[in-house]
Amino acid sequence: MNDMGNGNFGSYDPQRQMEGEQPPSRGNSLRDRIRRSAENEEAERKGQSRSGYVHQPQAEAQPEAVQPAPAQPEPQPAPQQPVEEQVQPKAEAAPAAAPAPAPAAAQANPGAAPPRPSQAAAEPAPQPAAKDEAEDLQPSENATQPIGVVLEIAGSGSMIAIDLQRLSECGDDEDPAIAMAGQVGSQIKIRVGNSWLLASVRNQRQDRKAGSILANIDFLGEGIEEKLTGKLHGFRRGVTRYPIPGSMVYPASTADLKQVYASDGRSAVTIGKVYPTKDIRAGLYVDAMLGKHFALLGSTGTGKSTSAALILHRICEAAPEGHIVMIDPHGEYSAAFRQTGVILDVSNLQMPYWIMNFEEHCEVLLTSNGNERQVDSDILAKCLLKARSKSKLAESMGKITVDSPIPYLLSDLSNEIQDQMGKLDKATNSAPYMRIKNKLDELKADPRYQFMFSGMLVADTMSDFIAKIFRMPSNGKPISIIDVSGVPSDVTSTVVAVLSRLVFDFAIWGREEKCTPILLVCEEAHRYVPNEKNADGNSVGTILSRIAKEGRKYGISLGLITQRPSDLAEGVLSQCGTIISMRLNNDRDQDFVRAAMPEGARGFLDAIPALRNRECIICGEGVAIPIRVSFDNLEEVKRPASEDPSFVEMWNQPGGEEDIVLRTVQRWRSQG
Ligand SMILES: Nc1ncnc2c1ncn2[C@@H]1O[C@H](COP(=O)(O)OP(=O)(O)OP(=O)(O)O)[C@@H](O)[C@H]1O
Ligand SMILES: [Mg+2]
Repeated sequence: MNDMGNGNFGSYDPQRQMEGEQPPSRGNSLRDRIRRSAENEEAERKGQSRSGYVHQPQAEAQPEAVQPAPAQPEPQPAPQQPVEEQVQPKAEAAPAAAPAPAPAAAQANPGAAPPRPSQAAAEPAPQPAAKDEAEDLQPSENATQPIGVVLEIAGSGSMIAIDLQRLSECGDDEDPAIAMAGQVGSQIKIRVGNSWLLASVRNQRQDRKAGSILANIDFLGEGIEEKLTGKLHGFRRGVTRYPIPGSMVYPASTADLKQVYASDGRSAVTIGKVYPTKDIRAGLYVDAMLGKHFALLGSTGTGKSTSAALILHRICEAAPEGHIVMIDPHGEYSAAFRQTGVILDVSNLQMPYWIMNFEEHCEVLLTSNGNERQVDSDILAKCLLKARSKSKLAESMGKITVDSPIPYLLSDLSNEIQDQMGKLDKATNSAPYMRIKNKLDELKADPRYQFMFSGMLVADTMSDFIAKIFRMPSNGKPISIIDVSGVPSDVTSTVVAVLSRLVFDFAIWGREEKCTPILLVCEEAHRYVPNEKNADGNSVGTILSRIAKEGRKYGISLGLITQRPSDLAEGVLSQCGTIISMRLNNDRDQDFVRAAMPEGARGFLDAIPALRNRECIICGEGVAIPIRVSFDNLEEVKRPASEDPSFVEMWNQPGGEEDIVLRTVQRWRSQG
């Protein structure tokens, strides 16, 4: 790095030219442009320096600067002059290498900022968080020298030219953020007045004529330049002032990114490290993320379930009185939440059948299609209402409907169907009645449906059931894992529909109460909210789509986890304010995610097919700007039971197979 003085980048140093040094050879047009631009900036800067803004501290700073670098006291230098230092890389670097030229530079250019020996030395460590990273904050030469120039600013995307040689110089930098600078998905910064604009590089292509690289960039946000250090601080998403073509482009260093990714004070949970840095923690703003739903996407095996467990663990640690319901179709999560959650499966869910509304009753009890189904559903509506109104509770309630969650006896429903059938005259067909009655008898007799259709479930347990699944009170276990892997497949979607609808109805009827938000997390979401092509008209799709659209208003947050975003119902993904995307191999899936991503950080999106396992791109409300994160390693006891099996290991362990087969067959037969 110390050879920067003889690198091509000498040409960017207007200071040096002021001192009469030989301008380095003009390599190519980009470098000329960069140099010219740097010269212009310098001239402009000097013009500005005559204003009170820069001059004020100058008087104080000047004597300091003349002193040899190492002796320079810490806080004094150039308190208000960081911007200029960024365009004087030579002057800044010079004192460290050879103190002598520094005073000369300062004297030759009295209006300019005094060269600083080292930003780290002058660093007053404005934030405690930044303290331990003092080393990182030491700006390498690469950090303070431009890597390119802005060519074009357009609403849809802007273009920069990057100097090839600078790119390779940066590539060797110790700071991984600088080493990545200019590459696709990396961040660069552009100075506009007193602020820094942060942008991500979307793509790169070669400009053969100029021997440089052209890249499109997407603006992420802007921060103010810290007066003392020249660093970026107070970062905010969005751009208020655009640069003009010709502005210099700098690499964003780890120190800059630290400021960008530092929590802005809102409550956040940290989940991993920001790529490509070694130590910047990546945080998710919990309120913002849950307030507008989130989606966790990724091809199979990329680490979705483990990441979901990690995020939920962190949320549970931060909010132990929370209310989280997780629908777990594969029974993976019970292993992860034994300590902090309640595991509900067919053995202890005890979901009363009467809690279903009419539509859900139809899904379970009607077997016919087309016109016949209409006839059957009319009969069921009539008989169900009668059965419901026979209960004592109904008598005390007055008006009830087929949808009212009022307990009734299965035998009452059965008898009612029988009675209605008896009243038929000979000409009318009794088949519809028989169909419903037979199905009802079948469900009552089948042990697999006992979690729902047991005679024991007739008592009015609605409040207890709701308190149990919504964790109210949470009693230190804020999450309920509803393991539906043992639920017979023909009713799984209805069970999920009932649970989702309960969340929604509870929120609607509880509006008057102190607002208690509930998070509903749905694994394999494409099964339950499928797109039109795969739609089967189940009520679960309707209710989950409704929660996606309206849930926010009632304090419901939806978390959708899926490996097939393109199979999700249209519009559901775009309702998710935060999208956490792990690697997606399929083009169609990638397109869907791209379309749904709330911001145009396409450089990040293009990285989606190239992510490693356990890495993700997070966009949207939950983060200040799109970030690429590598998730923390989750302790084994907190991981879902989704370990990839080791074939080699397992196939090397002989013995016990007969017993395994016997036990399995036994369980299979007894369905338990
Ligand atoms: N953060 C992590 N810490 C530790 N192990 C992890 C982490 N992320 C993923 N893994 C491991 O990677 C493997 C696959 O992870 P996981 O089951 O979460 O993937 P998935 O995307 O949910 O797969 P599928 O789509 O098949 O459900 C597991 O063995 C898991 O233990
Ligand atoms: Mg999984």
